[in-house]
Amino acid sequence: MIISPGPASVVLGEAIAKELGLEPQLLSHRLFPDGETYIRFPESVKGEVVVLVQTTAPNPDRKLMQLLIMARTAKDLGASRIIAVIPYLAYARQDKRFLDGEAMSFDIILDLLESAGVNDTVLIDVHNETALNKISEEHEMRIHNLTAIFYLADYLKENTYKGAYSLSPDLGRSELVEKVSKVMGGGFSFFMKVRDRYTGKTTMKVKNLDLEGRDVVIFDDIISSGGTMARAIQGLKDQGAGKVAAVCTHALPVPGANEKLKNAGADLIVATDSVESIYETVSVAKLVANFLKTI
Ligand code: R5P
Repeated sequence: MIISPGPASVVLGEAIAKELGLEPQLLSHRLFPDGETYIRFPESVKGEVVVLVQTTAPNPDRKLMQLLIMARTAKDLGASRIIAVIPYLAYARQDKRFLDGEAMSFDIILDLLESAGVNDTVLIDVHNETALNKISEEHEMRIHNLTAIFYLADYLKENTYKGAYSLSPDLGRSELVEKVSKVMGGGFSFFMKVRDRYTGKTTMKVKNLDLEGRDVVIFDDIISSGGTMARAIQGLKDQGAGKVAAVCTHALPVPGANEKLKNAGADLIVATDSVESIYETVSVAKLVANFLKTI
């Protein structure tokens, strides 16, 4: 097995290789002045199982294109199996046609990966697992969805949040958050979030929970504008909650998100290294390496 980190995930790719006791094969990469990407595999991959590690944020379109070029090149060079580890896959939230005429972006990206020669795609905490399972049925490529939530929970327990209440900011992830609440050991609930499909604006229904003085961990898949987390934090603080941790797998903070979270009263903000960010605290290297040992 050859681990080849792409330009977007060199540090994580090296960490995964280290967990597996392997030397990573770093790709030669540069950007042409006009923004195009140059990729070269410096050593032979003929007959090898090649694991490409490439996240797709920030700058999702460029990073996706790099991944497609990497995969197709590995195929052309005779790799026997291509496994694309995509710690964060952009476009996965557009997993159906919510409005007539919309692009099914998630499906399109998976099609492109498949036609570039990818045999297995390894994802982490995809936004909607039910939608993923449905889309997977239409693809020959095997698609695996891992969760980092228990690694995040371990970190929180070791860092003063043992026994904290677990909250999902929307219904979509409530099943998974209920599972992790058993590990956290402090109870569970969820708020309701509704998105206006025309404006993209969301509104949150905050439930009254008996949380006076209780520490709470909010688990979400993504932090982007910080709006979802900020509204949930505010709702909890208004009810007298103690410390509140805002926790996500994928941190994609846009300018202003950090201030929004801090102003809402976030006491701790934690994310994984699926995307490089100021919040990355918990590594997914072991999660991915352990999975790679099984396939
Ligand atoms: C969408 O429902 C996701 O689960 C996240 O809640 C969302 O992407 C977070 O985005 P933002 O930080 O912009 O509210």
